[in-house]
Amino acid sequence: MRTLDTAIDLAREAGRIQLENLGKVHQVEYKGVTDIVTEVDKKCEELIINRLQLEFPNHDILAEEGGGRRLKSDYRWIVDPLDGTVNYTHGYPLFAVSIALEHKGKVILGVVYEPNRDELFVAEDGGGATLNGQRISVSKTTDLQKALLDTGFAYNIHEGEKENNVVHFVDFLLKARAIRRDGVAASDLCYVACGRFDGFWELYLRPWDIAAGALIVKEAGGIVSSFDGSRFDIYGKEILASNPHIHKQMVEILCRKK
Ligand code: IPD
Ligand code: CA
Ligand code: CA
Repeated sequence: MRTLDTAIDLAREAGRIQLENLGKVHQVEYKGVTDIVTEVDKKCEELIINRLQLEFPNHDILAEEGGGRRLKSDYRWIVDPLDGTVNYTHGYPLFAVSIALEHKGKVILGVVYEPNRDELFVAEDGGGATLNGQRISVSKTTDLQKALLDTGFAYNIHEGEKENNVVHFVDFLLKARAIRRDGVAASDLCYVACGRFDGFWELYLRPWDIAAGALIVKEAGGIVSSFDGSRFDIYGKEILASNPHIHKQMVEILCRKK
């Protein structure tokens, strides 16, 4: 309980910092051609890390901006202090804080907070998923043609990576009702969990983007896997998350031979 309460507190507190600074001119640093970080990402990470270190001095922490630590603990916090930095920098009002806790390699707790909509998504392993305290579940859409899907494109697309998701995007565009690209993997997954999206896929996401969101989808009755339907790994290269009805249809598209 203390772990969950702390994660929720920190997500809300980081969200407050994000709202206070939204629309201001940010100090943008480049981690890659288009991969950016601002002073707000760093400030939020510092806040989260400092408090986790204080409350759980024996736990490992893996955080996007490098503020974590490795103590070889059975517990590891996985933190994205600001998911959707590009949106945030442009004043596009969709971004989130994502905090997960792993125990012996299994994610046992996930919290995603979207400050702009004051939406808090929470899941604990085996305990179901909630949005602002109300139980949520994935959609009941059975036909890909009636599905609203979502995806994203990794920053390495600008660095010449050949496996860049463009072909999958076109394939789904021609099959599904519509596709969105919201730019916040943590929220993308939570929107699958609460039935706003029927399915989501993306390549090259990092554990901090998806650890919390993937648990939230599973606990909301969804399926999370690799593109071919095999076991999902938060440290792996791909993620497919959907309601159970369209999962196989999405696997077929993602594994289609060209
Ligand atoms: C990014 C977002 C985006 C995804 C990128 C991520 P960041 O995270 O989740 O949706 O397409 O691959 O890196 O950099 O805004 O924390
Ligand atoms: Ca991220
Ligand atoms: Ca981030």
